[in-house]
Amino acid sequence: MNLKFVLCFTSLLLSIGITTTDAARTTFTITNDRRILLGNGLGRTPQMGWNNYNHFGCNVDEKLIMETADAMVSTGLAAVGYEYVNMDDCWAELDRDSEGNLVPKAKAFPSGIKALADYVHNIGLKLGIYVDAGTVTCSKEMPGSLGHEEQDAKTFASWGIDYLKYDNCNSHGLIPQNRYPKMEIALQNSGRPIFYSICQWQNDPATWAHKVGNSWRTTDDIKDNWDSMTSGADENDIWAAYAKPGAWNDPDMLEVGNGGMTTEEYRSHFSIWALAKAPLLIGCDIRSMSNETYEILSNKEVIDINQDTLGVQGIKVRKNGDLEVWAGPLADDKVAVILWNRGNSTSQITANWTDIGLNSTTIVDARDLWAHTTQKSIKGHISATVISHACKMYVLTPQ
Ligand code: GAL
Repeated sequence: MNLKFVLCFTSLLLSIGITTTDAARTTFTITNDRRILLGNGLGRTPQMGWNNYNHFGCNVDEKLIMETADAMVSTGLAAVGYEYVNMDDCWAELDRDSEGNLVPKAKAFPSGIKALADYVHNIGLKLGIYVDAGTVTCSKEMPGSLGHEEQDAKTFASWGIDYLKYDNCNSHGLIPQNRYPKMEIALQNSGRPIFYSICQWQNDPATWAHKVGNSWRTTDDIKDNWDSMTSGADENDIWAAYAKPGAWNDPDMLEVGNGGMTTEEYRSHFSIWALAKAPLLIGCDIRSMSNETYEILSNKEVIDINQDTLGVQGIKVRKNGDLEVWAGPLADDKVAVILWNRGNSTSQITANWTDIGLNSTTIVDARDLWAHTTQKSIKGHISATVISHACKMYVLTPQ
């Protein structure tokens, strides 16, 4: 399958809508608007990194950020692509200073944010920060940037910040389409390239945010359980046509390693996020993660699907009850496929070439990305027996 093939189906897919039924979705799509209007050149592949919120909530301080950055390097996670170390809500004092500047909490950040950014940069990583497009953030512990967009973006740039997560609480009914572009312009004027992560999932942000930010949320907050993870995957899938290099759908941060799901469920979570070109933002405590957690988060073959240069979001192409096939095209005419068993009993799942955009006569080699084995010269379809809540993930390379 070549790029031309994919492109020629774009308008068809957009016109039939992207619904998931027991019938197969015809094919994948790439958006017909490949322009990046946010001119920061960032996020050509989905962002990879870590954020404190899923595991630590409001408990963020410089010690946690420095130790996490150190662990990112010492564990080898940085070497497989994780680069942003992001702090979430609650890092600032509720009151701005006399000149209206944001002030980090003195107890939590005694060295200041600039020193923290220097520390993170010195070990080869990048530092992210959080603020809100309203008057106060969601925790109500710190101010929002509404009306202070230019000033706050300049402050972030002066500290050496590389990434902004911009949330949507306490916005007093002002529509996001007015507030988010203000911060986009402020970041552009700040003098520093800053990745712009839009944290807003109401008002169908995919339809407008792909021209404003590097990513936008498609779901409410993920929880560390199977139902939340699977429903987030489905909600995010609807917006696949809007994803493109520089602008990605974001079904929220990873829960892998936080303890609420089984290893197979976390493997499915990571596989689907990778295929869907979702941000891979680790949400557990990497300073004390288990070997199993590390084995999932550091699977380079799965990460390579997420970071593939074609930048097309993989989608659910077939569903038969709880048995699903997800797939997406990759660079060099390769195809990524996931056979996902969302049911309660072990079952056989099959992906037919015609469901996943391959010509029915194509012969492929299939690389199993979790077993790290290759099946040679397969024709027509690939099948596997998959245990409950597990998945098989392959890259198919036409011969
Ligand atoms: C939510 C957001 C979370 C986290 C939280 C902080 O709105 O979706 O990811 O940032 O606010 O209060």
